[in-house]
Amino acid sequence: MTIQDNMTDSAITSKPVALPDAQTVTEVQHYTDRLFRFRCTRPQSLRFRSGEFVMIGLMGDPDPRTGKQKPLLRAYSIASPSWDEELEFYSIKVQDGPLTSRLQHLKVGDQIILRPKPVGTLVHDALLPGKRLWFFSTGTGFAPFASLLREPQTYEDYDEIVITHTCRDVAELTYGAELIEGLKTDELLNELIGEGFWKKIRYYPTTTREESPKMGRITTLLKDGTAFRDLGIEAGRMDPATDRAMICGSMGLNLDLKEILEGYGLEEGANSDPQHFVVEKAFVG
Ligand code: A2P
Repeated sequence: MTIQDNMTDSAITSKPVALPDAQTVTEVQHYTDRLFRFRCTRPQSLRFRSGEFVMIGLMGDPDPRTGKQKPLLRAYSIASPSWDEELEFYSIKVQDGPLTSRLQHLKVGDQIILRPKPVGTLVHDALLPGKRLWFFSTGTGFAPFASLLREPQTYEDYDEIVITHTCRDVAELTYGAELIEGLKTDELLNELIGEGFWKKIRYYPTTTREESPKMGRITTLLKDGTAFRDLGIEAGRMDPATDRAMICGSMGLNLDLKEILEGYGLEEGANSDPQHFVVEKAFVG
C-alpha cells in the first residue's frame, strides 16, 4: 500500500521531519475555501525585519524509483511582526497546487520545514523618509503588511498609513479586517506607541466580484481619483516629497501600480538604494 492510499495529507505532515529546519504548527484558521492562516514555532536563531519572507514547505512525496523524499518549498511572507515569539503565515489554497494542496490540511502539532534565511524588499530600510506610507495589496499580498502593521517602527516613522486591500469578495477581506480591528486592543503596541496609535491607519478595502461598500480594482480607483477623494487627499495624487509605498499582489497588479506610481513621479527603491516605493510578488500557488 502506498503512502497516498492509507494516509491523509495531515498524517504525512505530522510525521517528524528528519531535518534541523522543522517547526511545529500551533494554530490554524480557515477563512474561505481559498484562504487560511497558520502559526508555528519560531526558530530561536531566526532574526528578520518585518515585511520579509522565508522559504517554507513540506517533504515531497517519495521518488517512485529511489524512495527518497525532497523538501517542497515556496516563498512565504512572514505575516507576524519581528518581535512576535511565534511565526504566522497567510496562504492561498490551490487545489492542484503542489504545496498548498497539502499545506491546507495542516493541523496543530504537525511539522513544516522552514529555512531560516529571511529576505525581501518590503522593508522600511528600502524607503526614504516620508510622511504617508501606502500599503497596496491584493489577495494574500496582505501578508507582509500584516507584519508591518504590527511593527512599531511603522508608526514611529510615519504620520499616516493607508492600507488598501482588493479581493474578489467580502469574505476574502476577513483576515485583514480582523487584524486591523485587533490593533485597537493590542496591549503591546498601545503601550509602546501610545494609545490610539491605530488612528493613524486608513483602511481601504475594495472588492471586485461581490457587492461591498467600495467596489473596484485599486488601480482604477487611483486613476479616476476615487481613492483620493474617499481618503480626503485633496491633491488627488501621490507626492514623491511625502508619499511612500509598498506593493504586494499579483504580477498584473504590481506592474499596473508601478506604472501609476511612476506617473506620480515616485521611483522604485531597493535595500541597497532606498527610494519612494518597493514591490514584491505575492505567493501564488
Ligand atoms: P479582478 O476580480 O478584477 O480580477 P486574485 O484572487 O485573482 O489573486 O485577485 C485578487 C484581487 O486582485 C481581485 O479583486 C482582482 O480583481 C485584483 N486584481 C487582479 N489583477 C489586478 C490588476 N492588474 N490590477 C488591479 N487589481 C487586480
